[in-house]
Amino acid sequence: MNDGDGTRAAAGQERRFGPLGTPLVIIPTYNESENIQAIVARVREAVPEAHVLVADDNSPDGTGALADGLAAGDDHVHVLHRKGKEGLGAAYLAGFRWGLERDFGVLVEMDADGSHQPEELPRLLTALKSADLVLGSRWVPGGRVVNWPKSREVISRGGSLYSRLALDLPLRDITGGYRAFRRETLEGLGLAEVASQGYCFQVDLARRAVKAGYHVVEVPITFVERELGDSKMSKDILVEALWRVTAWGVGERVGKIMDRDKQDRDKQDRDKRDRAPQRSPETR
Ligand code: GDD
Ligand code: MN
Repeated sequence: MNDGDGTRAAAGQERRFGPLGTPLVIIPTYNESENIQAIVARVREAVPEAHVLVADDNSPDGTGALADGLAAGDDHVHVLHRKGKEGLGAAYLAGFRWGLERDFGVLVEMDADGSHQPEELPRLLTALKSADLVLGSRWVPGGRVVNWPKSREVISRGGSLYSRLALDLPLRDITGGYRAFRRETLEGLGLAEVASQGYCFQVDLARRAVKAGYHVVEVPITFVERELGDSKMSKDILVEALWRVTAWGVGERVGKIMDRDKQDRDKQDRDKRDRAPQRSPETR
């Protein structure tokens, strides 16, 4: 079981992390026309060397066209137009592919609505200098949520706790969406097999990173609930998260039991073999 924590932390300390390279901030959007201009401007101001990629799912409110306008006036702003609403996970996967095909060293996830404050990005990037993946975390000491209804806090805390227990993850904020990945980390996560569509995409990537032995660090953030536009959280998104996390957890446990059974069988076979030929050299 616990090949996890201790080893990972030790390996993280010993390892030398390479330089970071240029960051690409990926912002998925669906109907964020009231937010897109402000968020892009804030990112450009907070981290001037970073590029921005807006991954828009053909928002009916014209977010994509507004993003095109921003891109026309700034060579650090790019737009990925997708055909229709396919979920946060699919938008990020397309955004990651776009960034990995180009020369970006860091890929950042950020919501469009201002909940993830661009002014906190330098802190995430500093932490990434000695990590493979940095999670902006609401639920570590120093982390906060501003203006969230109690109901949302209960869902989010509950989701993280359930994921932590079901998947045996040493993390506090597993569903959050403010993150910075090194290119090499994303390349090692097996993104081609990721099927998660909604917000459980975040749990999926955190789980993959920990299981692959990457050094994952949580940095406290202040999450500010949006003032404009609507959350896309829905019952379908919650239900998908619940069944997928449960299935991953059951799958891991069954896998561990089968591994143990196989080890027992192998040991029995070895013992049998060792016992049989032992006498033969002497008796000959
Ligand atoms: N392209 C695209 N397609 N973007 C989407 C889609 C989609 O289907 N669904 C949501 N988004 C975008 C939104 O436009 C926004 O920029 C971002 O994804 C987050 O969506 P919100 O609707 O604002 O999420 P939230 O505030 O309810 O949820 C927050 O908490 C979740 C649970 O902790 C976010 O931080 C999520 O990332 C997080 O998983
Ligand atoms: Mn939001």
